[in-house]
Amino acid sequence: MSHQVKEIPTKPYDGQKPGTSGLRKRVKVFQQEHYTENFVQAIFDSVDAKGQTLVIGGDGRFFSPETVQTILRIGSANGVAKFIIGKDAILSTPAASNVIRKYKAYGGILLTASHNPGGPNNDFGIKYNVSNGGPAPENVTDKIFEKTKTISSYKVIDLPPLDLSKIGNFEYGPSKVEIIDSVKDYVELLESIFDFDLIRTFLHSNSEQFKVLFDGMHGVTGPYGRAIFVDKLGLPASSVQNAVPLPDFGGGHPDPNLTYAHELVERVEADNIAFGAASDGDGDRNMIYGKGAFVTPSDSVAIIADWAEQAIPYFKSGVKGVARSMPTSKQIEYVAKKKGLNCYEVPTGWKFFGNLMDAGKLSICGEESFGTGSDHIREKDGVWAIVAWLNILAFANKQSPNQLVGINELLQKHYEVYGRSFFSRYDYEEVSSEGAQKLVDNLNAHIKEGSLASTEHKSASTGQTFTVANVINFDYTDPVDGSVSKNQGQIISFSDGSRVVFRLSGTGSQGATVRMYVERYVAPSAGAAELGRDTAEGLKGLIEVALELSKLKEYLGREKPTVIT
Ligand code: G6P
Ligand code: ZN
Repeated sequence: MSHQVKEIPTKPYDGQKPGTSGLRKRVKVFQQEHYTENFVQAIFDSVDAKGQTLVIGGDGRFFSPETVQTILRIGSANGVAKFIIGKDAILSTPAASNVIRKYKAYGGILLTASHNPGGPNNDFGIKYNVSNGGPAPENVTDKIFEKTKTISSYKVIDLPPLDLSKIGNFEYGPSKVEIIDSVKDYVELLESIFDFDLIRTFLHSNSEQFKVLFDGMHGVTGPYGRAIFVDKLGLPASSVQNAVPLPDFGGGHPDPNLTYAHELVERVEADNIAFGAASDGDGDRNMIYGKGAFVTPSDSVAIIADWAEQAIPYFKSGVKGVARSMPTSKQIEYVAKKKGLNCYEVPTGWKFFGNLMDAGKLSICGEESFGTGSDHIREKDGVWAIVAWLNILAFANKQSPNQLVGINELLQKHYEVYGRSFFSRYDYEEVSSEGAQKLVDNLNAHIKEGSLASTEHKSASTGQTFTVANVINFDYTDPVDGSVSKNQGQIISFSDGSRVVFRLSGTGSQGATVRMYVERYVAPSAGAAELGRDTAEGLKGLIEVALELSKLKEYLGREKPTVIT
């Protein structure tokens, strides 16, 4: 049977520029006539997927099932030989990265807008990943954008919608389709990485003192969480909550931080839960939060790096190197130094880690923005980070049979060896772009004139004095391909090792968002009481100095940040 390819005339839309996190817009924008079709055709015009296998998945948000059908119609007309699709259009971002790698696919199309709210009045997104399982590099996304500017038609094969709810092999016009279980391959991957027996034994022998709660935030990770925590690790069904993916995430904002994951925080506190964790809409972010114990992502990756080789089977043969994004605290550097590992500092954005991983230079990395991961895939991985913590805690408890080691004990133990970088981020969301620019210009002028060098700044409330060591604008040259990324944020370093970083968010959708990152290092010699202080207290003086030095309140016209993490 021959299948007729139709050419549908169309006109370009403005602004279809994908970032490395894909094209993210309101659902209503994607629903405009030909809008989604144009972008999908632009992908096929930019990558040579003819005769190849493509993966399709996503976080299950509103408008995903329709878009899978659009991709099938257009992809098939453009010669895709085979589609591998997650059942019901569901594959978490890390699961999709794994499927692309495992089945040696040519690439994948992920339908997600990460942690942005979903539903008919919120966001949708389309992201293209390449054969290493990571987001398409800029040369590919630039090409897609160029194609959207000149598109005049797209190709389709008109076929009835494919039922996405049945696992199996199907024919779709000239293409083959395999609908796969969304969870199975991912669970197998984690089982090959972690010591599930050790975790199971630990959890079962401490079921009273060490309760676990996983919050899927009605994003994509619910089924993954249930498969791992309930089916594999044998925890009670009540150990997972908000575990049914909903097209609008139940009306919530599926971002795991202290503000948006408040349901988790409240239940952890009320029910004395030793280990709580949450993941975002598409499953790549994570937050670790136990009773009275919040783990800042900068500490999380440092602790994983510290324990990996001895506790986690995947790393038994050694950690190749570690990395952090520039604004992430230096905690992981202290670990790397002691262990003689290379520690890379890259600009914000997971894509910068991928090159280092492909070159065999990097095993474990993380970002302050609740992203943690390793070279098992090419995306950050929320559930991986959560299971990594359970594996480490199980291992630490095996070493300490007489006293339960919980999150706080593990943190304290870590600080006593490496010291502690107190870390916090202040977000000023939707400020005026002019004000944000003035703040940046002022800092750049200081950098140019060297006018802050060696100046002393005293905090009125704590009496601490901070002396500026240097101020720079962060530029990065990729050690693998030599590409250069400039203007990645301003760093003010102080003589005691403290840092303040200013950066404009690259993901905001309205006005500008200014992020201020503050970090103060305290050496182990300061003693347990000093190391165990509350973060806000530990940073009070430095925050005052940072605000005064940058004249932030003046430029942004804001007394207080919108969010503190
Ligand atoms: C996305 C990327 C992360 C990055 C974050 C930065 O989530 O996947 O790798 O850290 O954006 O966001 P920002 O708003 O600070 O530019
Ligand atoms: Zn995400």
